Amino acid sequence: MRLDKFLKDTGYGSRKEVKILIKQKRVSVNDIIVNNEGLSVDENNDVIKVDNEQVIYIKYVYIMLNKPQGVVSATFDNVHTTVIDLINDFKYLELFPVGRLDIDTEGLLLITNDGVLSHNLLSPKKHVDKTYFLETDRELTSEDMNTIENGVLIDGQLTLPAKIEKVSNCSYHLTIHEGKFHQVKRMVASTGKCVIYLKRISFGPLNLDDTLKLGSYRLLTEEEINLLKNNK
Ligand code: URA
Repeated sequence: MRLDKFLKDTGYGSRKEVKILIKQKRVSVNDIIVNNEGLSVDENNDVIKVDNEQVIYIKYVYIMLNKPQGVVSATFDNVHTTVIDLINDFKYLELFPVGRLDIDTEGLLLITNDGVLSHNLLSPKKHVDKTYFLETDRELTSEDMNTIENGVLIDGQLTLPAKIEKVSNCSYHLTIHEGKFHQVKRMVASTGKCVIYLKRISFGPLNLDDTLKLGSYRLLTEEEINLLKNNK
């Protein structure tokens, strides 16, 4: 790739700004100061330095965010803080959330710039499991739980079989395999009860890291990234 693109992609500014860096003789490739912004570089093998500091090329990032309430799952919003606003690193990458959690839902949200992985995880054909912890206004009866497990009609379609387990009086773990709009709230609403608190605790093979405070995030480990990519 071109040197100016490499520096732009790694966060050193616009093409115009990185051209100035290069003209100021602050950029070296394999320890030779360069002055041609169009130079072709190998981002994986060449040693590229700015002010003598090596620049590591990161193509894709995978971030686990513990989403707080009051924040929208979007890249831009005129009114609310977005989940992307919470990520202080990698501003130069075009990050986006993989799917959505409602504004009042907390918990595990994957943030990345890998469109292919996101597409695969969200594809309705893939049935990626999502587990939620939820609290309801009133206790669900065993009949309510059966209804939720066996499928309820949402937008004229029966939801796929789900798994619900009681945690305590009005709290449950629910695992679903699709991501319809407001799905958990609507599944519970079909029993006449109401979700009063909702938090996603797992997404495919990922479990919410319980050391992450609301609003904080961390990079996925190599192992977690591989699990996600191999998720069947
Ligand atoms: N189901 C919902 O109702 N809301 C969410 O945010 C996620 C799943």
